[in-house]
Amino acid sequence: MSYKLRDTYYKKAKQQGYRSRAAYKLLELQERFRIFKTGQLIVDLGAAPGGWIQVAAKLVGPSGKVLGVDLQPIEAFHQRNIIVIQGDITATETEQRIMEYLGRPADSVISDLAPKLTGIRDTDEAHSLELNRTAMEVANRLLRAGGSFLIKSFVSEELRIFSAELEKQFGSVQRTRPDASRKGSSEIYFFAKDYQPRLQG
Ligand SMILES: C[S@@+](CC[C@H](N)C(=O)[O-])C[C@H]1O[C@@H](n2cnc3c(N)ncnc32)[C@H](O)[C@@H]1O
Repeated sequence: MSYKLRDTYYKKAKQQGYRSRAAYKLLELQERFRIFKTGQLIVDLGAAPGGWIQVAAKLVGPSGKVLGVDLQPIEAFHQRNIIVIQGDITATETEQRIMEYLGRPADSVISDLAPKLTGIRDTDEAHSLELNRTAMEVANRLLRAGGSFLIKSFVSEELRIFSAELEKQFGSVQRTRPDASRKGSSEIYFFAKDYQPRLQG
């Protein structure tokens, strides 16, 4: 049997109607960091197929809004508090489209972005870090003061530098690895809160 079919979270996601097993990571992260509150405006970077969108949309409720963006098309949702956009987050025009839909700064930017893996460790780490820096720049332009930023990263030698960059712009930065992360995966998540635009630089 393939890893996928044996995987508890994959099976659970199928049974509970989540589009991806990643939903369980976000549920754990919410439990730990209390990221979402009713009525909030959330931007989800690298959102396909949409497991995180489902979790976030439920937690912010009908008075909130979740805008998901991905290179891949995301199948439309019937909920009115969800907007999906297909686009490359590294392109200025994608960011402009996000801003038009938002209408006001976001309360939280969440990023589960992951580059296409080559299998060459150094190359994959470099791509991931580059993508994360872009996500951080995008978050800087989209967030309201006091807002929060959740981002997936992979263990690498550069991680401390990335963490220090986050600390320059946010009042607090915590990191964790959810139980739902696949065994053997080197992913970790940073949760940065209390965005302070004036401290940028
Ligand atoms: C791990 S998946 C996200 C899973 C998602 N959080 C969920 O719950 O279903 C990572 C996503 O990042 C997207 N991605 C990678 N580079 C991107 C880019 N430059 N712009 C937009 N999306 C990107 C990939 O297409 C992929 O769908």
